[in-house]
Amino acid sequence: MSLQNPVFIPGPTNMPEALRRACDLPTIDHRSATFPNLLNAARSGVRDVLKSQVADVFIFPSTGTGGWETAIANTLRPGDTVLAARNGMFSHKWIKMCQDFGLRPIFKDVTWGEGFPTDWAEDQLAKDTGHRIKAVLITHNETATGVTSNVAALRKALSDTNHPALLFVDGVSSIGSMDFRFDDWGVDVAVTGSQKGFMLPAGLGIAAFSPKAMRATEQGGLPRGYFNIQDMAASYKTGGYPYTPSVGMLNGLKESCDMLMGEGLEAVFARHRRIADGVRAAVRAWGLDICAAHPDLYSDTVTAIKTPAGFDAGQIVAHAEHAYGVSFGAGLGDVAGKVFRIGHLGSLTDVMTLSGIATAEMAMVDLGLDITPGSGVAAAQNVYRKGKSSTLSEAA
Ligand SMILES: Cc1ncc(COP(=O)(O)O)c(C=O)c1O
Repeated sequence: MSLQNPVFIPGPTNMPEALRRACDLPTIDHRSATFPNLLNAARSGVRDVLKSQVADVFIFPSTGTGGWETAIANTLRPGDTVLAARNGMFSHKWIKMCQDFGLRPIFKDVTWGEGFPTDWAEDQLAKDTGHRIKAVLITHNETATGVTSNVAALRKALSDTNHPALLFVDGVSSIGSMDFRFDDWGVDVAVTGSQKGFMLPAGLGIAAFSPKAMRATEQGGLPRGYFNIQDMAASYKTGGYPYTPSVGMLNGLKESCDMLMGEGLEAVFARHRRIADGVRAAVRAWGLDICAAHPDLYSDTVTAIKTPAGFDAGQIVAHAEHAYGVSFGAGLGDVAGKVFRIGHLGSLTDVMTLSGIATAEMAMVDLGLDITPGSGVAAAQNVYRKGKSSTLSEAA
C-alpha cells in the first residue's frame, strides 16, 4: 500500500495530523501532578461522546478485545448465563470469549447480514422468569457485515420483560461515528477502542460502566487481573493507573474527543451518513448487492459488498492493494471470499471517499467484473455534490 493514499479498511482509520501530533509527546511522568488533568479530560471526553452523564469510563492500554474482557470479567460469575446472537465475526468472537471464561451463552445463529434478533431475545427474556440470564450482549455495528443493530429496541425488550440482565454493547465500530446514547438506551457496559471513531492508532481499550454495572463489579467472581476495574477505579481516585499508562495515546484521546465535540456530534454522524449514502449509491450503480439484508440495517461506517457467485471477492482487495496501493477490507468468516468491505469511518471526507470508490471500480473492471467505469463515482458524486441543479433553481 502507499502511505499517501487514504485507507478504506473499517479501522484502523485515517488519522488527522493533529491527532498524530497529539500522541507524540515527550515523556510525561504518569505520577506527576500533570497526569491527572490529562486522564480526567480523556475520561470526560469519552463520556461526552457517549452522550452520558453517568458512565464511569475506564481506559486500558489494550484494544477493543480487552474491552470485551473487561465487561465480562468484572461483572459476571463462573457459570453465569448470557444471551447473545451471532451475526458476524465480532459477535462470534465475543461469544467465544464468554465460553472461554466458563460462562453459558444462550445464542442464536442468524444469517450474516441480518441484525440482532430482538424478538427472539425478548422471548428468551420473558421465559427466563428465574433471571438466570445475567447479561445480554449486542454488537451495535457488526464490522464484518456492515450491519447496525438496534440497541434501543433491545433495551425496550429488557424493560418490557422487566428483566434485570445487564446490557453490554460492543460499540467498537460505531462509537464516535454513529449515534450512541449510553444513558438513553440504558447501556450497562459499552466497549470500544481507539482506532476507529476516535481516529487514533490502535492501543486503547475503552469500557464505560453504568452505576448498575459498577455495583455488579463488587460481586464479580471471574478471574480478574490486568482488566480489574476495581483496581483501576481505586487508582483513578488518586489520579493515576495501577500500572504504566500510555500517556501519549491518552493525550490523543483527549484531543480526539475535543475534535469530535468541536465538529459537533450530530454533524459527525451526519457526515458519516452522507459518506455512507454515497458509497451505497455507488454499489447500486455497479449492480452489486450490499451484505446487510435491509436498508434499516445499513451501517454508516462500513459497507460489505457482495460479489457475483463464483468470484473470489478477496481478489479485489489484493488487486487494489497491489496495483493501486489502496487497502479495502476483506471478507471474514462465513462471508470470506463473498464480500469485500469499504470502511468509511473516522477522518474521512466526501472527496477522499470518491478516491476509494474510483479505486474499487478500477480494480473490479481490471478483474473482469461487468462494471461500467465511472458509474459508481458518478452515483456518489450525485450524493456529494453541493450545487445540485434542483438546489440551485430553488435558490434562484
Ligand atoms: C465490532 C468489533 N468488535 C470488536 C473488535 C475487536 O477490537 P480490537 O481489534 O480493537 O481488539 C473489532 C475489531 O475490528 C470490531 O470491529
